Amino acid sequence: MGTLRAQAEIAVWPTDEIPPPGEVLVREAAASDGLISLLTDRVDAALLDASPRLRVVSNYAVGFDNIDVGAATERGVVVTNTPGALTETVADFTMALLLAVARRVVEADRYTRAGRWQSWGPMLLLGQDVCGATLGLIGLGRIGTAVARRARGFAMRILYHDVERREAPEQELGLEFASMEEVLRRADFVSIHVPLTPRTRHLIGEPQLALMKPTAFLINTARGPIADSEALYDALAGGRIAGAGLDVFEAEPLPSDHPLLALDSVVVAPHIASASVRTRTGMALMAVGNLLAALAGRRPPNLVNPEVWERRRLIQQEGYK
Ligand code: GLV
Ligand code: GLV
Repeated sequence: MGTLRAQAEIAVWPTDEIPPPGEVLVREAAASDGLISLLTDRVDAALLDASPRLRVVSNYAVGFDNIDVGAATERGVVVTNTPGALTETVADFTMALLLAVARRVVEADRYTRAGRWQSWGPMLLLGQDVCGATLGLIGLGRIGTAVARRARGFAMRILYHDVERREAPEQELGLEFASMEEVLRRADFVSIHVPLTPRTRHLIGEPQLALMKPTAFLINTARGPIADSEALYDALAGGRIAGAGLDVFEAEPLPSDHPLLALDSVVVAPHIASASVRTRTGMALMAVGNLLAALAGRRPPNLVNPEVWERRRLIQQEGYK
């Protein structure tokens, strides 16, 4: 913020009650040249139309499904994100959820605190082994690959599916490329690492959950709407899959009376996979760097819509002729 304050006049949403009301966001954006948005801020055509001054939207997240990038591109507004900064931190948290559901860590904590621990027991809180289990990665981008690297340390067998085969990480990490169906059928843990797009919305629905083993777990640290929440609840409640570790939900925040919360087989977190001090600081510096570069007419390091930049450059060149 120091960096930013020194170089721009800034208006900051002053409370922890996020997001600001839509009309406040629109009003402030309309008075600005640049916007640093959170994933809870909806940046759509209406906001962009109300903000003709706006030249850059710098998203403080790697995912940018909160932004209508097509509408921004049409209006010549640069969009940036924070890839890379959070890869390792999200991969750590993915393993934390995976281990927690497999070994019933949260249930065990509740059990112990509730004073229910009477004696050691051969059958007490039995879970599933992670070591030697099969991990199925849906998506092998930066985060999926970082999860694979960790899973190797747990001697997991690793399958992945992606829109394209990725030979380099596949060979380096000994991964097996498989169809989506095969990943779902064979994995003991299915972990989602694709962005939310119209094509990945409800990628995991009733038919996909039905392919999973009844002993398998679903881990989602990507975006909630990639899994159909009703189908997921039904599969969990009906014991058709063993459990789930979820950091993201179709509707966030998850209401405190949501039926998922009644299931012991589910470990939930409030969208915190990237929440380490170092990573959130790194993301902030990246978001500020992207914003200031765009405002100063320098190519931002993390452009989501490079075509806007190219077009701007061409227009400038034309202008010099
Ligand atoms: C967090 O969910 C992000 O996309 O950075
Ligand atoms: C996100 O950074 C990804 O590519 O998985």
